[in-house]
Amino acid sequence: MSAVHKAPSIAIFGAGSIGVFVGGALIAGGADVMLIGRARVGERIARHGLAVSDMDGRRFQLPAEQVHYSEDPAALAGAGLILVTVKSADTEAAAQALAAHAAADAIVVSLQNGIGNADALRRALPGRQVLAGMVPFNVVQTEDGRFHRGTEGSLMVEASPALAPWLPAFEAAGLPLLQRADFAAVQWGKLLLNLNNAINALSGLPLKAQLSQRDYRRCLALLMDEALRALRAAGIEPAQVAKVAPARLPKLLRLPDWLYKRLASASLRIDPEARSSMWEDLQAGRRTEVDYLNGAVVALARSKGLDAPANRKIVDLVHAAERDGGAAGMSGKALRSLLGPSA
Ligand SMILES: NC(=O)c1ccc[n+]([C@@H]2O[C@H](COP(=O)([O-])OP(=O)(O)OC[C@H]3O[C@@H](n4cnc5c(N)ncnc54)[C@H](OP(=O)(O)O)[C@@H]3O)[C@@H](O)[C@H]2O)c1
Repeated sequence: MSAVHKAPSIAIFGAGSIGVFVGGALIAGGADVMLIGRARVGERIARHGLAVSDMDGRRFQLPAEQVHYSEDPAALAGAGLILVTVKSADTEAAAQALAAHAAADAIVVSLQNGIGNADALRRALPGRQVLAGMVPFNVVQTEDGRFHRGTEGSLMVEASPALAPWLPAFEAAGLPLLQRADFAAVQWGKLLLNLNNAINALSGLPLKAQLSQRDYRRCLALLMDEALRALRAAGIEPAQVAKVAPARLPKLLRLPDWLYKRLASASLRIDPEARSSMWEDLQAGRRTEVDYLNGAVVALARSKGLDAPANRKIVDLVHAAERDGGAAGMSGKALRSLLGPSA
């Protein structure tokens, strides 16, 4: 995070795990950033400043005076680039706020998981440039209020010359933007990995501990098999967004623990404390994104006359956990037996 670059200012709409991490890194890199979010996050930043860390030991603390924060969507008005970082269920509301307050020529980037968020923003914001984005890494909020990045990967965004003024700011933040033309493929490639979010949330375990158990991995492999079948039927080739090609993932996941650890440990660096944001949602009693992830696989399969029963079951289990106020900590064996004989 060396040079200071000045480009038209950046607004982050939805100051949560991803928004604050990305915003904090951009501020530390010298960018002019406005964070827009809820009062509780703003109050915490006003009291303690903003602390960001990552799995490579980088850590920085921004004093409150250096962080521009607002609960008022009118603060979007000055931004040339707006990063949307709300959960999928809040995209429509975010779009309304942008329609009312964003500058007409502001570039909007959806940094959200799932398939339909950028399109939902486009529909609600006719005439504006909306780009899909993808966050490959995981961020959790630690008990002491830090925003901690627990896995690797580079931000990706739909290629556009309009992004040029901001590229140096992302470089300076240590978050270079990789531009990709094949974005539907990128989104489906990421969604395949996100099929683990629900399993992780239901397990109640950190990601590393959960993924080191074959029973959970077999469940994930089955969810991916269903998704890959639906994608083939739809003629979509998911992009490789992790170190392993999508088609090879189910086979790798089904390996015995000792072999999986040997083959995957070189490519799969995960902080021991990292968890999925769906686990955080269940803990906090919030609605999860399961309908936009596993639910998207069920919908794609259905549109091609196929079924995706294991993904359907996962959607039901997560909705039940939402109603019950959190995950009870389901074992891999219990989950396999619920997903049926193929798991
Ligand atoms: N966390 C991760 O590791 C990760 C990794 C990759 C991708 N993603 C994706 O990134 C997106 C954001 O995830 P996240 O984990 O950062 O979510 P998050 O922590 O819940 O952050 C979103 C924040 O936006 C706030 N918000 C929602 N609607 C708002 C509005 N109208 N005005 C102001 N603030 C609003 C939410 O407040 P309330 O909670 O009060 O609604 C919340 O504080 C999701 O699509 C997720 O799948 C997350």
